[in-house]
Parts: sequence; structure tokens; C-alpha cells
Amino acid sequence: MAGHEVYTSIDIGSRNFKGVVIGVKGDTFEVLGYAEVGARGIESGDIKDVAAFKEAFNHLLEELLRQYPRLGKSELLLSFSSDKFTLDFHNEKFNLVEEDEEGEVMITEELLEDLKYEIFDRLSGPEAGKKVLNMFTRRFILNGSRVVVNPVDMTARDIEIEVSTVRIDYPIGESLRATLEDIVGSEPVVFSSPVSAAEGTLTVTEKDSGVVLVDLGYNFSTVIAYLNNMPVDLRYVPLGIRNVVKDIVYVFRTSFDEAETMLRNYGFAVYDPTEDLDAEIEYREIDGRTVKKISAGKFALVVNARLMEIFNKVRRVYKDLERKIPEYRENGIPGGVVLTGGGARIKRITDLATQVLRTNVRAGSFLRSFPVGSERVIGEEDVTDNPSYAATFGNVANFLKVEVEIQKSSQPRKSSEFLKGLKKFLKNLF
Ligand SMILES: Nc1ncnc2c1ncn2[C@@H]1O[C@H](COP(=O)(O)OP(=O)(O)OP(=O)(O)O)[C@@H](O)[C@H]1O
Ligand SMILES: [Mg+2]
Repeated sequence: MAGHEVYTSIDIGSRNFKGVVIGVKGDTFEVLGYAEVGARGIESGDIKDVAAFKEAFNHLLEELLRQYPRLGKSELLLSFSSDKFTLDFHNEKFNLVEEDEEGEVMITEELLEDLKYEIFDRLSGPEAGKKVLNMFTRRFILNGSRVVVNPVDMTARDIEIEVSTVRIDYPIGESLRATLEDIVGSEPVVFSSPVSAAEGTLTVTEKDSGVVLVDLGYNFSTVIAYLNNMPVDLRYVPLGIRNVVKDIVYVFRTSFDEAETMLRNYGFAVYDPTEDLDAEIEYREIDGRTVKKISAGKFALVVNARLMEIFNKVRRVYKDLERKIPEYRENGIPGGVVLTGGGARIKRITDLATQVLRTNVRAGSFLRSFPVGSERVIGEEDVTDNPSYAATFGNVANFLKVEVEIQKSSQPRKSSEFLKGLKKFLKNLF
């Protein structure tokens, strides 16, 4: 695949690290490798054990390297999940002309870039106490009154720039950044998982007219609402698939790993008499030896009960968003709900979500963010149509989108540096 750019994209979750290698040529994305490994050493983006984190991260790199040996030449993009992200709205004002001076200043692309840099600096860093992971420019106000979406080639005495950001507490973000820099040998580009999940799965029309993404993660579920192509709200439901797994552990007296395997293999989100509820499920109890049998119906009851609770909580958030956001209040949320994360892979989860949320629900994947037959995504559907990988694809989509924006330029890095880091890594490996 000549003339293409290759990206290695990794989403750092609390349960799994997911990675993909993607070749981008024109507007086509080709998956050149992908892997998932168990997460270690990190909780909600907060590094708890550097050594364990590095080991798991390197394990993932190793897997990807096996599938795509020229990994070191690629551009590395990262995202991580946390229940501590905040979506903040800011209004930053700049005087372009001194008080005692006459006239107005012409606003150029360069001036605008400089001002965005300045905003980024104000909002991100030890003094701000936060680190910016995503920044969206909403609109501009010239001379205190004129609202525009693009001020280039206009003149003004002063300009207000409305931006929204997704941020994390500075110490958490900084410690993760430093650890990642140490592993890969260059300044990493780091986004927030929920924004990447949205950018990797939502269609342009959904993002523009209004949609809510629900990421069914491990420790918690993230709700992010979009309108006019930007996030407008970000909330958390403090329950995740871990709670479903815990229930299975408790009720059937098995291990965490076995419970998770049971959920993957036999989990049904709905308790539906039209399914074969008498089918037998075999599993091992906590001792790893005693083999037990239960019916699919009994298992479905346990899984269903907790998922119902999660979606009832999501529904409260959804209703609240419908009330609080004026455009939603008037027109409803046309895009309804899109589900991502490992939880979105539980069989018939969209049926349950539709039932409880009483709106249109679909599972989100990169493949489904394009019209049917667009042929822009090449690769096994195991990964391209997988809601768990939403953020890994989204990192690339997001990176390409913010090409001219602040985040790319403010986080200088060269792919050759990633190569250097990788060489170091390889040396340690063999
Ligand atoms: N095919 C599947 N069927 C059922 N459950 C699944 C499937 N795949 C993954 N899961 C479960 O979904 C849960 C969440 O997985 P996911 O990879 O989204 O977590 P994560 O990204 O590490 O977590 P977080 O985003 O909360 O930090 C896991 O407990 C996993 O076992
Ligand atoms: Mg996740």
C-alpha cells in the first residue's frame, strides 16, 4: 500500500488495552493489525503500578509488531478511559487593538492558530490544574456582538473564542503522559476515550443533529451527547460490566475470569422465553475443578437484572439531557443512542436498551459510521465491526480531523522518535 500513512492506535481501558494498526490512503482505512490484552496497573487513567502497566502495554505492542513488523515507522495515537473527565465550556477574550488605538485588525488563519495556542496554554497545564485531551472551537464573537463560525478575513478590535474541552486532573494526565513517553520514547498524542469512541462510530449526520453515545465499559458507563458536531454533555453512570460479572461470581460461586468467559459465551441481555432457556451452561466453580450446570434461563436472569439497572440509570441521564439541552427539548434526540464498549457486544443488548430507553438504539462500530457499501473500511469485521475497538479507530479519525487544530501542533512528535523508542523496546525484548 504505497503512499499511505500508518497509525498505531491504542485505547487504554481499565479492563483491556486495545490496539490497531491502520493504513490510511486517501479516505480509505485498512486494518493492518489488531490485538487486545488484559489491562494492568491502571485504574480510570490513574497509573497505580508503572511496572505492571508497562508490561501489559509492551505485550500489546509486541502482538501488533508481530502482525505489522514496520510498526516503528507508524504514528502513535493513544486514548484512555476515566470517570474523571470533565467537559468544560470556556469563553476566552483577546484584544487585538490597544484601547487608545484606532481601527481594526484583519483576522488571518495564522492569528487564529496563535490564539488557539494561547487558549490551549491557559486551559492546560499545572496552573490550570488540568490537562486538555480534546478541544473543540464552538464559535467566535467579534467586537462583543457579532457571532460568526469562521472569522478568517474579517476585521475586529477584539475577539471572543468559545471553546469546549475534555480535560483530566493535571496530576493524573501528567503521570500517564510521562509513563507513555518513557515507554515509546517520544511525546505521545493522547485523547479521551469517550470522544474517540464517538468520533470512531457516530455518523456525521448523527453528530450534527443530536445523538447520545453510551460506552458500556468495565467499571462505569460513559454517556456523551453530541450536537452540531461537538460534545455538549458528558456524564457517568457508576455501574459497568464489572458489576454484571460480579453478580455472576456471587450467584454462581465462580471466579472472575470464569464469570467473564460465561458472559462472553452465553450472556443474553434479555430474558426472553422465545430463546432456548433450558439449554445447559457448564462452568467451573471457584475451586477451578467442580463442574456445575445451570440453565441458560437462570443465567439470563442474573445478567438481565443488572443490565436493566444500568439502562434505567442511563435512561434517567437521557431524559435529563432531553430536558436540559434546548435543541433536544424541541426536536428530541434524532440519533437516539449508540452503544460502544465491550458491553455493547453482549447478545441482544440493543433489544434491551431499546426496551428501557424507548428510543432508537444501535451498536456502534467504525464500519457502521459509514454508509453501507462505502468501501472505505478494509479489514476483518471482527475488528472493524467491533464496538470494543471504537476508540482505537476514533483516535485516527480524530487525529485526521484536528490536523490543523491545536492538539497536533502543541504536542510535537516525530514518527522517527517512536521508532527510536521501539528499537529500545525491541532490544529489551530479545
Ligand atoms: N463479546 C463480549 N460479550 C460480552 N461481554 C464482553 C464481550 N467482549 C467484552 N466484553 C466485556 O465488556 C467489558 C468491558 O470491556 P471493555 O473492553 O469495553 O473495557 P475497558 O475499555 O477496558 O473498560 P473502561 O472503558 O471502562 O476503562 C469487559 O468486562 C468484557 O469482559
Ligand atoms: Mg473502554
